[in-house]
Amino acid sequence: MTTANNDVPVLMGLTTTEAPFIEQRKAAGELYIQQPYELYTEENHAAWAALYSRMAPRWERYANQHFMRGIDSLCLDPRRVPRLDDVNKFLNPLTGFTAKAVAGYVPAFLFFDCLRNRAFPTTITIRRGDKLDYLPEPDIFHDIAGHVPMHTDKAFADTLVRFGDLAHLAAEIAQSIKDPEKQVKKVESIIKAMARFFWFTIEFGLMKESSGMKVYGSGLLSSYGELAHCVESPDVQRFPIQLEWVINQYFEIDHYQPLLFWVDSFDHLFSLVGELEQWMKDGKLDNVSPGEPLVNEADLKSFIAAEFDSKSVD
Ligand SMILES: [Fe+2]
Repeated sequence: MTTANNDVPVLMGLTTTEAPFIEQRKAAGELYIQQPYELYTEENHAAWAALYSRMAPRWERYANQHFMRGIDSLCLDPRRVPRLDDVNKFLNPLTGFTAKAVAGYVPAFLFFDCLRNRAFPTTITIRRGDKLDYLPEPDIFHDIAGHVPMHTDKAFADTLVRFGDLAHLAAEIAQSIKDPEKQVKKVESIIKAMARFFWFTIEFGLMKESSGMKVYGSGLLSSYGELAHCVESPDVQRFPIQLEWVINQYFEIDHYQPLLFWVDSFDHLFSLVGELEQWMKDGKLDNVSPGEPLVNEADLKSFIAAEFDSKSVD
């Protein structure tokens, strides 16, 4: 942080893990924030431009058709970090979704509840220009260029909303269990199953189109190296999605994925969330295979202590 005069700190820079503005908001306990656009430095904009320009030809080759239509309709500036207000002007009329700025990690129930309300918690920081390739945490390039183009598609948007409904059902189930030990065990398993489904679809999903294998997972669409690797490499196993496999399959986040699943369409994906809902009701998510992802205290609590209108759940 630099100081413009003796009293007024200047919080310039919205670089991931190095942004004083974000640290301040977190320290104040704020989760939902405004995007302080004037704090982006020229280095931040240059990082966006570098990410966008090298990714564009790979999107042309590997991204699914809905993504390509979506990125066109958002009219993103390849040279400047996007303003969320501008993104929302194009996005909201299409599906009712908005990108909503957050200061950091959003506990699982709150995250899914946002989706249910057609809001997408969006990171506003951007990775360092000298570390374009790998970032363990999301940044605005992952969230806006990787996720949001798909939110312009009706079937995909409806899928996210339905996933949010599922989180409400999970919270209802959680709160119906009186024995604390049984409650934690069951809720952990349900959250794990939901997180695995989200990971192998929304974050790392493939789609089989008539033109070949394409990508719709945002983790892949925002990774220059993995976007080509996931389609081309003989080291990647690609299978038609099977619910019983996905919810029991652990994953690791710090290397290219060796195992991916494909869907036929977003209507197919939507129907899978319906199936997941039925499985949750039938207790088939109560004892999924152990392993990653670990469910942290904040995620667990977010379901057990969730406040919501139970009448809104089927
Ligand atoms: Fe993501």
